[in-house]
Amino acid sequence: MIIAIDGPAASGKSTIARLVAKKMGYDYLDTGAMYRALTWKALSEKVDFSDEKQLANIAKKFKIFFETDPKTLKKKVIVEDKDITKEIRSTKVSSLVSIVSKVPAIRQMLVGEQRAFAKKGNVVVEGRDIGTVVFPQAEVKIFLTATPAERAKRRQQEFLKKGIKIDKTALERKIVERDHIDSTRQSSPLVKAQDAHLVNTDNKTVREVAREVLKYCLKELKER
Ligand code: CDP
Repeated sequence: MIIAIDGPAASGKSTIARLVAKKMGYDYLDTGAMYRALTWKALSEKVDFSDEKQLANIAKKFKIFFETDPKTLKKKVIVEDKDITKEIRSTKVSSLVSIVSKVPAIRQMLVGEQRAFAKKGNVVVEGRDIGTVVFPQAEVKIFLTATPAERAKRRQQEFLKKGIKIDKTALERKIVERDHIDSTRQSSPLVKAQDAHLVNTDNKTVREVAREVLKYCLKELKER
């Protein structure tokens, strides 16, 4: 079974996807981490981000590996033997990733890898276009939302846990900017699949949201 979890920036997809995967005993794929890792690689190669050809060339020779902690299901992101798990969450990568993910040739390559990953069987996959483009046949589709202010607050708290202080208003502005690029791009824009369950996460705890999502997953399992 494929469980697709989509939604805008910082809507809690990773946390929820990991929790749901753990409960279901499924594997988990963070497709945003793939676009972020590619952005990191393009930065390290000093690519001109306005040149789609240069970006696509980077993607051609790009290989990413995930190393899973069996207990938490947290993943380390490895590119060229380097652990870049922290680096891909930097504000620099966040501010450029939507430019990279707009490029159709790049999407085509990464979507191919995402589909290959799901051949393993039961998986939870999170991103922007999972229920619409990558796995339109997914048995369960979830679309997570929250107001930009709430999402900025959550992202600020994530950074604080890592000892980094970032202004919430600036974060909110960047989040809204990224959502705009992601939702208006030509290739696989961020949009709720018609048959996705809309889960508004405002004023809900992580446990509450996970429970709501699990309810849809268990219902699907029962009806099969
Ligand atoms: O964690 P956060 O919500 O900030 O973002 P992410 O899931 O790590 O995704 C980072 C960026 O990758 C998004 O803003 C999109 O530009 C791109 N992305 C995408 O285009 N398609 C996906 N399936 C996943 C991410």
